[in-house]
Amino acid sequence: QRFIKSISFALCAGAIAVGSSVAQANTFRIAVGDGAGGTQHELGLKFSEVFKEKTGGKHDTKMFLNGQLGDEQATVNDASMGLLDFSILAINNVTPFSPSVGVLTLPYMVHSLDDAMTLTQGEVGKQLVENTIRDAGVRIIGWAYSGFRVLTNSKQPVSSLADLEGLKIRVPNNEIMIDTYRAWGINPTPMAWSETFTGLQLGVVDGQDNPYITVSAMKFDEVQKYITNIRYLFSIEPLIVSESVFQSQPADMQKAILEAGQAATDHSAQWLVEQEDKIKAELTANGMEITEPADGEKQWMQQAIDQVWPKYYKQLGGKDNLNKILTSLGRDTI
Ligand code: MLT
Repeated sequence: QRFIKSISFALCAGAIAVGSSVAQANTFRIAVGDGAGGTQHELGLKFSEVFKEKTGGKHDTKMFLNGQLGDEQATVNDASMGLLDFSILAINNVTPFSPSVGVLTLPYMVHSLDDAMTLTQGEVGKQLVENTIRDAGVRIIGWAYSGFRVLTNSKQPVSSLADLEGLKIRVPNNEIMIDTYRAWGINPTPMAWSETFTGLQLGVVDGQDNPYITVSAMKFDEVQKYITNIRYLFSIEPLIVSESVFQSQPADMQKAILEAGQAATDHSAQWLVEQEDKIKAELTANGMEITEPADGEKQWMQQAIDQVWPKYYKQLGGKDNLNKILTSLGRDTI
């Protein structure tokens, strides 16, 4: 990963050195954390198609899949410094740079695709976009909706929290997610996304969580056997543009970028609905076994909410702010 990152840096530095700043390039580079066939890839394809159309074919994009331009968290840094144009990554990998987006990784906050769309495209989303520009120097211009993250592992069916004991579970480097597993009674292993397949393959970790579509795009079915159908986090994956690259564009280009981002967002929601069941069936056809969480997931939910939420009230703008968000989703306040 360090090697790939240094190549990425060298390429960017080279581009700057020869005087063709990233902002003026005709082909914009899009880093993509996941592999082909996932929601990130689909968002990028739609964005690229509409962007090209809106710029009359004058400008183009090139996607680099599977973390080729560096791990997801590293791409935020690179975009922030203007060394990378765009990145598509999971929101959990933006949180370390802009803490308020943690509201989207709070366990059991998002109950459905509708909730995810309301939060990202309504008032809350607008505020998160502003906060992310301020904190991280990147602008969210589109959202992929990837479905609930399910737990996979190579060892045993997991239904109750007691079944987790002894399993080494990889999590992103995201405090809220780390604390969620702690609330469930185990100490998870934070690991970069780009290292996760190898970590699972070599048995450094036994399991991880991500949506069905991501499990498939990353070929995790080759190294994982058991799925637990938990619904603690609905995976939301933004398309970000370097704010310095965005600001250096003329108004018509900025408009094209924003409109293409919105078109890709609309497409993503539709694509998830069309694909998720089909991909879930493919994973079971490939030998994965799905277990439902015991007791309708009540204990998982209770322990995560009781132990994790209060710790993050302050980071997420206070309990009153969370209550406002819950009300906007038509849910009971806390
Ligand atoms: C992660 O688990 O680090 C990410 O959510 C994976 C992804 O980007 O799909």
